[in-house]
Amino acid sequence: MKTACIKLILSLFAVSCFTTLSFAMQKAPQQRVIPKPVSMEAGEGHFELNRNTKIRISASEKALTELADYLSDLIYAATWVETPVETGGFNAPDSSIHLIVDESTDFENNEAYALSVAPDGITIKAPTSTGIFYGVQTLRQLLPVEIEHSDPSLVPQDVKWTVDAVEIRDYPRFQYRGLHLDVARHFFPVEFVKKYIDLLAMHKMNRFHWHLTEDQGWRIEIKKYPKLTEVSAWRNSTLIGHYTSGEYDNIRYGGYYTQEEIREVVEYARKRHVTVVPEIEMPGHSSAVLAAYPDFGCIDGKDYKVQTTWGVFEDIFCPKEETFRFLEDVLTEVMELFPSKYIHIGGDEAPKKQWEESEQAQSVIQREDLKDEHELQSYFISRIEKFLNSHGRQIIGWDEILEGGLAPQATVMSWRGEEGGIEAAKMNHDVIMTPGGTNYFDHYQANPETEPLAIGGFTPLEDVYHYEPVPHELSGEKAKYVLGAQGNVWTEYMHTTDKVEYMAYPRAVALSEVLWTPADNKNWMEFWGRLQTHFKRLDILEVNYADHYKGHIPGQK
Ligand code: ACM
Repeated sequence: MKTACIKLILSLFAVSCFTTLSFAMQKAPQQRVIPKPVSMEAGEGHFELNRNTKIRISASEKALTELADYLSDLIYAATWVETPVETGGFNAPDSSIHLIVDESTDFENNEAYALSVAPDGITIKAPTSTGIFYGVQTLRQLLPVEIEHSDPSLVPQDVKWTVDAVEIRDYPRFQYRGLHLDVARHFFPVEFVKKYIDLLAMHKMNRFHWHLTEDQGWRIEIKKYPKLTEVSAWRNSTLIGHYTSGEYDNIRYGGYYTQEEIREVVEYARKRHVTVVPEIEMPGHSSAVLAAYPDFGCIDGKDYKVQTTWGVFEDIFCPKEETFRFLEDVLTEVMELFPSKYIHIGGDEAPKKQWEESEQAQSVIQREDLKDEHELQSYFISRIEKFLNSHGRQIIGWDEILEGGLAPQATVMSWRGEEGGIEAAKMNHDVIMTPGGTNYFDHYQANPETEPLAIGGFTPLEDVYHYEPVPHELSGEKAKYVLGAQGNVWTEYMHTTDKVEYMAYPRAVALSEVLWTPADNKNWMEFWGRLQTHFKRLDILEVNYADHYKGHIPGQK
């Protein structure tokens, strides 16, 4: 009896030791950072955030002060612990967090950082403030997930604000790490756009591709052309349900961002080291513009309409001088609002029928000695490129801009598979990969029968995680033209911000690791493990992510 009792106690102790140990192994804080850092070495002991913790910065320059304030605000919002920001004072270890821009040390690239957590202090060193920002994001993920709370009274009493000692060296694999949002098929408020940017920045992504114009609505205020927001921003009805339903709601729908709001978003993104890349579609996807300004179309007297259903429409800008003047005026205001080197000019899905039937379009083909309408599109895009280049900007276009000849400096966004990207890279043009099969987050991510309506396709989380942006067709020399990749969120079937989050997350989380982490460091099962902690973080941030991979992998017990 006594022996049995001791045995029971011993076995309970063993079970409890084992659970504690495996718990510790699974939950080791450094095992939860997404995207996974390049290298991490665990140290001894831990750092504890306390009321003496200060944030010390290496210089009182604006970018670093902003970052220190950002970190201080993040900590205060969850803990009510004030961490005053001070310049210098690095000598004595005093539980402080040091943010040091250090141009003298060898870092792998401009976005790299080194993070050292020790019991007597934390140091983040980087060659630029952007590197420091990424170090701060990693530190944020090393803290208990409750750091995401914006109300300390919601944080459980037993949460300890500690970080296990660790040495991290980290840098991104790709320089272009993008997430796109279509605000034209459905319109989303500024507050949501900011949250979207916050989330992508948390995952160390650095480009927000803002798809602002479409057949179904124009979403950016342009002072010189008020009818773009009076007329083009509104449609009279919207298709209900799937593409084939034939049913409409007969409700006027629309909206747009004022220039003031756009400035606010661009500034918000800047503070999170995110560049906003605006997209102004041309020459196709232009029904909404032509509804307000029919003179820029090719068909005299046509009653153009802001479209109420989805798909590809024949409406197209006519390549006449007044159209180019209009587009240059629009792009001039766009350049004033967006400091991005890249301006996306669309170029996709532009049927040539109206050009084939237009005397004006045909006369341009003759005048410019062009072979056909594809070369006319190339002429159109090259002219716009020349205008933007003359203002120090560069164009990105969807892969259709290859047809009829690629504009000399253009970056190609490859969406109809990777072929366009491969072709462009072989011609020494920069490329951003966003192939439909893996990077379209409007596709289904689980069985369509049990999922909310989506456009089609099937792109589960695992497929996104396994995506490799550099195709094997591109040898070492040409591979460098692949600047990175992007996830696209087209919103025909996303009426609400909740649905956008459901479709984008956690797929954007998987993509962040594709874009940041060296391919050899990636491991699907291990990522899935880290994702379990990450879901708790997203819960606190009130992200309406799809939870198919929460607690188990679909199809596996
Ligand atoms: C696209 O999906 N039409 C670029």
